[in-house]
Amino acid sequence: DFYNIPTTVLSQVDSSIGGKTAVDFMGYKNLVGAFCQPSMVICDSNTLKTLPNDTLLDGVAEVIKCGMIRDNELFEKMGGDFSKNIEDIIAACITIKSQVVASDEFDRGERQLLNFGHIGHAIEKCSNFSITHGHAVSIGMVIITKAAEGLGLCKSGISDTLRHTIQKCGLPISCKFSADELYRVTLSDKKRAGDSVTLIVPEKIGNCVLHKVKTDELLEYIEKGL
Ligand code: GLY
Repeated sequence: DFYNIPTTVLSQVDSSIGGKTAVDFMGYKNLVGAFCQPSMVICDSNTLKTLPNDTLLDGVAEVIKCGMIRDNELFEKMGGDFSKNIEDIIAACITIKSQVVASDEFDRGERQLLNFGHIGHAIEKCSNFSITHGHAVSIGMVIITKAAEGLGLCKSGISDTLRHTIQKCGLPISCKFSADELYRVTLSDKKRAGDSVTLIVPEKIGNCVLHKVKTDELLEYIEKGL
């Protein structure tokens, strides 16, 4: 048995919940691991008081992600001064994550929604991990939302709203890497299944869906989103 005592926003709202345990290997994120649920998770918001700003922002990106995939109200809170409500916000994210994991512990369906913005993994790798996870996920969410909008998969205006919220929080919305670079790195990601990859696209704010595409279509998505 083990307990998780997460001390960052990112780990409190996401990685401490759901039993994914993994390590980076051969330059790839979380390549080797196993599912093993903690017996208990203890989140103490006092531990967040001394976080460096960039570390705090990594978690803010995860909260925005959580709002985008499941909770419009949570997303809207991130457009205002959320710092006073941080405990409620963390609790809302934990509730959503627990529900998602309870319905799909082993990541075969619904849990993949949590991969929204995970083109960010390619951004992390291309930057040699100088761009940290939440910052990369922010850019990844913008890329995939803009692409989804361009391809008519979601209502227009969503990518502007997302971009505005991300920027307001102090997170990045673009990177210097080319579509081709991101495409090649994404193809080597563990989440690829044969000749297809499952993208997570928003239909509207507060609701994302799984969208399977052929690997050779992925380049078009990245190009449209950059
Ligand atoms: N951090 C994504 C997941 O737990 O599935």
